Amino acid sequence: MKKDLLSILDLSEEEILALIERAIVIKKESKVNNKQFRGQTLGLMFDKASTRTRISFETAMFRLGGQTLFLTRGDTQLSRNEPVKDTARVLSRYLDIIAIRTFSQDFLEEMAYWADIPVINALTDMYHPCQILSDMMTIKENKNNLDKLKIAWTGDGNNVAHSWINLAKVLDLNLYLACPPGYFPDPEVMKGAGKNIVATESPHEAAKDADVINTDVWASMGQESEIEHRRTIFNKYQLNSALLKKCKPDVIVMHCLPAHRGEEITDEVLEGAHSVVFDQAENKMHLHQALLEKMLSAK
Ligand code: CP
Ligand code: NVA
Repeated sequence: MKKDLLSILDLSEEEILALIERAIVIKKESKVNNKQFRGQTLGLMFDKASTRTRISFETAMFRLGGQTLFLTRGDTQLSRNEPVKDTARVLSRYLDIIAIRTFSQDFLEEMAYWADIPVINALTDMYHPCQILSDMMTIKENKNNLDKLKIAWTGDGNNVAHSWINLAKVLDLNLYLACPPGYFPDPEVMKGAGKNIVATESPHEAAKDADVINTDVWASMGQESEIEHRRTIFNKYQLNSALLKKCKPDVIVMHCLPAHRGEEITDEVLEGAHSVVFDQAENKMHLHQALLEKMLSAK
């Protein structure tokens, strides 16, 4: 049976650790252009903007010897109401694998249900699993003992936070999320979370002695009209030097990017000595290569 990556919960602990190990090896091999998947095609169906995810998937597939087709909904008959079930089955006859960035997790799941090829979640309103896999790779590069780490999140309980919660469930990580009231992670995602996953209103509680501190935009793609309102609500949750001082002295600062300096993170912290954000961005390419290799080999 084909295997999809619709959320982190589609992967076991062993699979996640193996993907990260493989991505670290791929990173060391650097520019090697492996021709293993010559003639294979990755479809990228993106309904939202992307710099990192799109280009890192395209480069990763190129490095594997395959090619990529970039598809926007407006250019397909989906925009003229062709049923998802027909689109998925037709695309499966042309492509070998597809990564989808869209609004609704339901659309992604419907595509995956009808597609005969593996489907990857390249971000939905609900989850961003690929981001968290490469973020965990970045943590692994910087920290020795993953078991003992305290990982903090400050800001919106959004799609990236949801994927962190799922990862913390599978890897049993200590995760503290600080979010304003009304912006906590979805209770469905929190269901089944153990004591290792704490949601609090206090950014100081989350940041205290943290080994890793993470944030993301206050208004995600699709929430642009809420930004003014959110600026006031999220003000206390900014990742700034005062919050950084609560963390361990060797804390690493993470942000999946794009960042809004002066909102969720200050320029000083983003550009500061603790920041690993550009390694994070690079690692997306290596992790996507490991992921494509795994999913295409399993087909
Ligand atoms: N982090 C991330 O997914 O970036 P893009 O939106 O640029 O793909
Ligand atoms: N939460 C952000 C992540 C962007 C990579 C968004 O969905 O816009």
